[in-house]
Amino acid sequence: MNQFESQPSVIQESSIPPQVREELVSKAEAAYKQAYVPYSHYPVGAAALFSSGKIYSGCNVENASYGLTICAERNAVFQAAAQGERELKAIVVAVPTDEFPSPCGACRQVIREFARDCLVILVNGRRETRWTTLRRLLPESFGPDFLAGLE
Ligand code: THU
Repeated sequence: MNQFESQPSVIQESSIPPQVREELVSKAEAAYKQAYVPYSHYPVGAAALFSSGKIYSGCNVENASYGLTICAERNAVFQAAAQGERELKAIVVAVPTDEFPSPCGACRQVIREFARDCLVILVNGRRETRWTTLRRLLPESFGPDFLAGLE
């Protein structure tokens, strides 16, 4: 375990201004409306805030070869990375169902690539929000810092 992983998350919801949080929620909700989900019928939207201040959104896009499906969170983060973004500050995940969403393990690891810790806000179809952090979702994680310094 590295030194950072033993510390509890100190990220607070207040670290993102309310207006920006509202914009993230709206963009995540707009994103799930574009979801391509003919197999699961479970639309998911994500909106990710990066250090530039820009927000990138994505939805899940399924495939007849099921394993090729991409989740909303990874879609949003990869779009940001492709624009040169490297530092993720917060991500909102929204679904239209009564249950809150929960990022899958693969998406947690992809988020970890661009944040040691960050705010994660979960939104259900009643527009209720639950906030957590990457460090809570993915404790004792592996990330790019482990490889730093290797030839
Ligand atoms: N899915 C996401 O997009 N994000 C999550 O956090 C959980 C799962 C998608 C993948 C698939 O299209 C559908 O939800 C059902 O697993």
